[in-house]
Amino acid sequence: VTGSETGLGLAGVDCDAGVGLAWVDQVVAERAAAGLRRSTPARVGSEGCIDLAGNDYLALSRHPSVVEAARSATTLWGAGATGSRLVTGTTAEHELLESALAAFTGAPAATVFSSGYLANLGAITALAPADTLIISDAQNHASIVDACRLARGRVVVVDHLDVGAVERVLRERVETRALVVTESVFSVDGEAADLVALQRLCLAHDAALMVDEAHAIGVAGPGGVGLAAAHSLAAAPNVVLTLTLSKSLGAQGGAVLGSAAVRQHLVNTARPFIFDTGLAPASAAAARRALEILVAEPNLADQVRDRARRIAGVARASGWAASEPSGAVVSLRCDAADPKSSADLAVAAAEFLRTNGFRVAVFRPPSVPDGVSRLRLAANSSLSDETIDHLGLVLSTVKEAARG
Ligand SMILES: Cc1ncc(COP(=O)(O)O)c(C=O)c1O
Repeated sequence: VTGSETGLGLAGVDCDAGVGLAWVDQVVAERAAAGLRRSTPARVGSEGCIDLAGNDYLALSRHPSVVEAARSATTLWGAGATGSRLVTGTTAEHELLESALAAFTGAPAATVFSSGYLANLGAITALAPADTLIISDAQNHASIVDACRLARGRVVVVDHLDVGAVERVLRERVETRALVVTESVFSVDGEAADLVALQRLCLAHDAALMVDEAHAIGVAGPGGVGLAAAHSLAAAPNVVLTLTLSKSLGAQGGAVLGSAAVRQHLVNTARPFIFDTGLAPASAAAARRALEILVAEPNLADQVRDRARRIAGVARASGWAASEPSGAVVSLRCDAADPKSSADLAVAAAEFLRTNGFRVAVFRPPSVPDGVSRLRLAANSSLSDETIDHLGLVLSTVKEAARG
């Protein structure tokens, strides 16, 4: 294509598509050669696969009354929020959801964002300005990593679940403020952080504790209240929680929970809150209905954890190194000689599982900082014993094939 053909007044200029972005072609090729190419497979309903890849842990995304709540809110408020929360983007649905989230977790106040990613970005950038020490677990989610990069505070990444390292860094702090950031149930291996020990340290060192409950809300703690609430930490004045509405609550969006002052601070300073169109009213209504279902059926969370433990059990019996689930997530390590072989093994195993009726997720570098790819299986409350036992048989076939 030449400039004159585009009509952009660049006659005579060679608009070769590679110029300026040729390096992207090279990076794409390198990624493919390393076995790390990601794709966006369309979700199809009629594939006949049991879905262990999604995060719809309580199967609420298609619950008739959750869907109906979204539909009614759309009819009442329209398809989108129409503006920032500070302008036209706050509806009664947002306020009702914020009250419901605070009541459910026991936190004093909630602020809803348009995604969990933005909730983390908003919370950390607002709560860790210059002269703040941020201590972040090495396996924290990418949204936390990105938030730490954007925040003005000094970031120290500590080894995964290493409470001793958190203490050492806190003891040597030179900043006025400190913020310790962790997930409560980790997204890759599904194991729990020691929130009680972290909070003890935070209190001793005048630090704040931020806990991402994305994989805990709805599935961990009594009735799915999350791990902070389970340990009576949700209302502590130095504790802030973040969560997503897009996993067990079956909707979309995120929230930050904390004191009324924290809420005021976020509304006034959190850029992903101020400069982003508010959460769609339909998502707010759907999430609130999902919370009502959780309150009415507190055993849902126990059921999911029971399913996850059974999956871990059949996987171990099939020779896999399975994580110990604290919520819905079970992860299976694909140990191999090097990261590329591990990634290839994970992709091949996931494909075998798919052709045998189970869709699972694959975590490869950089999602797994230790270079060991994982199969990530998310339990949901509708899985029967028979289905999980069949999964065990398929997993043992994969394992034997890998050995052979
Ligand atoms: C631990 C954790 N935090 C935050 C997020 C982001 O949530 P959302 O998908 O609502 O943006 C995720 C989702 O992948 C997550 O796993």
